[in-house]
This record gives sequence, C-alpha cells and structure tokens, in this order.
Amino acid sequence: MTDSNDDTRTSRRRFLTGAAGLAAAGAAGAARAENPKNLPPNVADWSKHLGDGVAVRPYGHPSKFEKDVIRRDVQWLTASRESSVSFTPLHELDGIITPNGLCFERHHSGIAEIDPDDYRLILHGLVDRPLIFTLENLKRLPRVNRIYFLECAANSGMEWRGAQLNGCQYTHGMIHTVQYTGVPLKLLLEQAGVKATGKWLLVEGGDASGLDRSLPLSKALDDCLVAYRQNGEMLRPEQGYPVRLVVPGWQGNIWIKWLRRIEVGDQPWYTREETAKYTDLMENGKARKFTFVMDAKSVITSPSPQAPIRRKGFQVISGLAWSGRGKIKRVDVSLDGGRNWRTARIDGPVLDKCCVRFYAEAEWNGEPWLLQSRAMDETGYTQPSKDALRKIRGVNSIYHNNGIQTWALKANGEVENVEVG
Ligand code: MTE
Repeated sequence: MTDSNDDTRTSRRRFLTGAAGLAAAGAAGAARAENPKNLPPNVADWSKHLGDGVAVRPYGHPSKFEKDVIRRDVQWLTASRESSVSFTPLHELDGIITPNGLCFERHHSGIAEIDPDDYRLILHGLVDRPLIFTLENLKRLPRVNRIYFLECAANSGMEWRGAQLNGCQYTHGMIHTVQYTGVPLKLLLEQAGVKATGKWLLVEGGDASGLDRSLPLSKALDDCLVAYRQNGEMLRPEQGYPVRLVVPGWQGNIWIKWLRRIEVGDQPWYTREETAKYTDLMENGKARKFTFVMDAKSVITSPSPQAPIRRKGFQVISGLAWSGRGKIKRVDVSLDGGRNWRTARIDGPVLDKCCVRFYAEAEWNGEPWLLQSRAMDETGYTQPSKDALRKIRGVNSIYHNNGIQTWALKANGEVENVEVG
C-alpha cells in the first residue's frame, strides 16, 4: 500500500466521520459548505445525470478545460498573418507525438486549399519517363509509416543575442513530431528512371509562394517520403494537404508542403530560399550555404516559464531531445547552470531523427535552480553551450541555434528565460 493510498483512506475516514456528525446535527447546508463542489468521496454532480450521447461531436476535440492548450503566435514577429509562424505549446505536452491540431505552422503565402481530386505531382527533368501522379496514384503505391521531428531552421532564432522570449513554446516551439504515412521518394524516382547525370532535385510547393529548394539526389534516395497522412489521418491543410515532402533530420524549410513538382537536374538551383534566406551569416560576413541537418538539441518543457512549479517537494523535470543525425543516445540535466550534470531517464521510443522524451526527478524546497538539458546523439556529438556556439557562429545568425537553454527557477516557483556566463 502506498502513502498516497493511505492518505486517501485517512481523508475518506475523516470525511465520513464528519458527515455523520453533521447529519446528526441536521446541518446538510454546512456539509455543502465544507465541500461546496460536492467532490468525491461524495457522489459528484457529474455522476448524477446523463452526459452527451455519441456523435454529438462527429470529429472529436479536447475537453473545454483544455482550452489554453493552443498554438500561439508572436504578433510583432512578422508583418502579415499569411507569411508567419505559430508555435507548438511544448509545455503542455508529454510523450513525443504532437497532436495534429497543435503542430506549429510556418507558411510563406498562407494555407493553399487543394481539392484532393485536383491534386497533381509532376516528376520531370533528367528522367527517362516524365510522370504525373494523382493522389489516387500515390495511395496505390507501397507505403511506409515513419515518426520524425520537423524543426524549422529558425527555431530559437530570436535568442542569438541573448534570452528574449519567455516560454519554451516561443523559444523552441517551431518543432513537431508526427507519424507520417507515405511513399518513399526513391520509389517514384525509380518509376521515372533518373538519368546518370541526375544529381539534384528541385522540389516545389503548390502554394502562392511556390516555395522551392534544391535537394541532393542522395538524400532523396535515402529516407525522404512523399507523405499524405500524419498520425493516421490525412495531412492537415496547415501541414500541406494533401501531400508534403518529408526530409528526415533536415531543416523544416525543405519539407515542401502542397508538393506540386519535382525536377531532376545536375546541379543545385540556388533558389531564394537557399541564398537570400536559410543561409547562415557568419561573423566574417560570409554566408554558409546548405546547412541542411538539424544538430542535436534539447529543451526542458516543464518546469519552464509557461509551466511554473506550484508546490514544493518532489518534482518531475521533463523535456524533449532530438538530432537530425540519428538517434539520441543520452540526455543530461543540470540544476545549477551546467556545473553538475545528472543523466536523465529517457522514456518511450528512441528512433532515428525523432524526438525522445526525458525525465529527471528532484526535490525542490524553494532554492534557486538554473535548469539546463544537454543532448548527445549516436554520432558522439554533444549539444553546445550558447557561448561555445557563438564562438564559431558569431551573432549575425538567425538559423540553427541549438545552444543549451537555461531556465531560472525562482523561490516562488516562477521560471524565467536567462543565460548563464
Ligand atoms: N512549403 C511550402 N510550399 N510553403 C511554405 O511556406 N514553409 C516551409 C516548409 N514547407 C513552406 C513549405 C517552412 S519554412 C517550414 S519550417 C515547414 O514547412 C513548416 O512545416 P509546418 O507548417 O508543417 O510546421
């Protein structure tokens, strides 16, 4: 028998004794005052009448008590809603899967609306047989299911010059992890027959931005998917309905949504999205190009600024870690700004290019903590401190900030985004 069960028994006994005493005194009103919401061990109000029947909500949605678990945006960040970003509420989630309705969104020209019957994917260029696929064509091909994270290269991009946004939703929420169902891109390329001179693909979206990127053929043949489902159901419009490209471990920008065209060529196209944008401006003024891979990174999601500690005593510290180079091997947690580290417990699946969920348990009695997490992947790479990253990258960058995050826990349980020297 655990302590908590004993507690329950004790309080129930106390309550029953009290209730009997009150009944004897004929003071039903007083009993109600002691337990105004009539909570258990009384028979609660929700147990006294029928609830809604089936199919009242043909497509289910969360309890009304979860109304604050939502994507949020930062209005001053972008000039328009159509070319903007919303953030995943990481502090409200557990496990590794992001529910479809909470996946962050990043669009350059709003959400394209495509009737699945009208959908077409063109595959042409240096191929023996140019092809056009309908959605039905794609669905009839052999398919696979894979769970991957998608992280925007600009995730944590506002933090290069110091701590700025107060909440992991905003500092790290340009990430989601879902299970994709789709056709290996390799299969489509094999059907078209890539010519020996074919080395790069141009992958292009069907939205008004026509977002396009150059993708090396080697990556396309390795693990890319042409996906039409996320977490079992069809892709959400925000995620590229009906078809998006999945480029495991690589920056989100190249995961083309509303995928309409794949052209095979012999060299990269140097599109706007890989020259003016999504390059890394280094300290010496040179721009680093094609930094496709998202390096190992982690964040403590709870406690965090939007998830303060409400009660002293035993605490479960929880977070996410991921790497675009393979599996996460270990996650460490520090309570003192990186002076001492303890190995966190990873719970749940550990998959290639996928988030893991980690936990560390600790007693807290009001002392200040400087909470940090540090991810290591199977290549031996360890997530760097922000200062170590700045030594190599300077502070001109926007993209690929995978430095260690620090949360300062104050005596009242509130948490703040800070940096330690
Ligand atoms: N594809 C198209 N066609 N149009 C877009 O605006 N945004 C890209 C990428 N694919 C974009 C796109 C960017 S910058 C990112 S980070 C991811 O999609 C975001 O994917 P999500 O909206 O599913 O989170």
